[in-house]
Amino acid sequence: MRILTGIQPSGTPHIGNYFGAIRTTVDLQSKGESFLFIADYHALTTSPEPAKLRGNIMTLALDYLACGLDTEKTIFFRQSDVPQVCELTWYLNCVTSVGLLERAHSYKDKIAHNFVPNNGLFSYPVLMAADILIYQSNLVPVGKDQKQHLEIARDIAIRFNTLYNENIFTIPEGYIPDAVAVVPGTDGQKMSKSYNNTIPIFGAEKAIRKAVMNIVTDCTPMEEPKDPDKCNVVALYKLLATPAELEQMKENYRAGNYGYGHAKQALFERLWSFFEPMRKRRAELAENLDFVRDLLKRNAEKAAVEAEKTLKKVRLAVGID
Ligand code: ADP
Ligand code: TRP
Repeated sequence: MRILTGIQPSGTPHIGNYFGAIRTTVDLQSKGESFLFIADYHALTTSPEPAKLRGNIMTLALDYLACGLDTEKTIFFRQSDVPQVCELTWYLNCVTSVGLLERAHSYKDKIAHNFVPNNGLFSYPVLMAADILIYQSNLVPVGKDQKQHLEIARDIAIRFNTLYNENIFTIPEGYIPDAVAVVPGTDGQKMSKSYNNTIPIFGAEKAIRKAVMNIVTDCTPMEEPKDPDKCNVVALYKLLATPAELEQMKENYRAGNYGYGHAKQALFERLWSFFEPMRKRRAELAENLDFVRDLLKRNAEKAAVEAEKTLKKVRLAVGID
């Protein structure tokens, strides 16, 4: 079984990204033949500043490698290092109706927010379909927001196979893990870069401590008992602590004489130790950026072999061979 997913390089990762996405990807890599790529072509649809994009690509590579991505198990590469995907996008564009793309929620949503779309944004799902189909992927793990894009990829694959040859593309299945809970941010809403409520995975101790100390709590005095089930600090601690440690914290809340400051300190210590091995690995990798660049390149070469196999069939099918 071939498992493939892409991630947009969008900046500093937070613990919501870790528990909601990174960990799942790392866990899935032993379940099949795994492909993971940095979707830098897709990132261009929102016109990022070039230096920023370059930085975000390396950040993402370092973050995933530090968090346990194993390139013995996963082909990890940069989308743009396999430009064959653009050629396939064109063939797919020519069998995709404008109406199908006009129905994409994420496109409609951007328009509704007065975003002036470029054609790249409009045909974003076709490039995503090419990403998936070029590697003959069976399973595509994605977040809920990408469900429709995956359905579009399936529609395009079925249409192409029907028009030309049933055996060209594997029809991919989406995998949307629903067990992943939403990680709350420091203000209790969903943790998200857009809400400015994140706790970064990597960064200076001071900045992470500050983010933890900023978690919003009520103003019950230190001496009084507190409800652990209504507290953001406990909700975050739950992700990191053992069941016994969590129970101890809950007991402390109910007993009183335990302030939110104490709980935040315990959370910070747990966070700091949980990510310590990853932080160390990341620091080592950051000293060896050429090694990381080279790794991505070598992996892209492996991916390109698979991409070429598919393209050969497609060119022949459409009459451009
Ligand atoms: P952000 O909302 O910070 O911009 P992204 O949209 O880039 O995050 O999310 C990248 C991945 O991380 C997605 O798969 C998403 O489902 C997951 N993710 C982001 N925030 C959370 C969260 N608070 N809880 C669980 N998963 C999350
Ligand atoms: N659109 C996806 C996102 O923003 C990223 C992506 C690009 C992707 N190509 C893909 C995901 C192919 C899965 C398969 O999250």
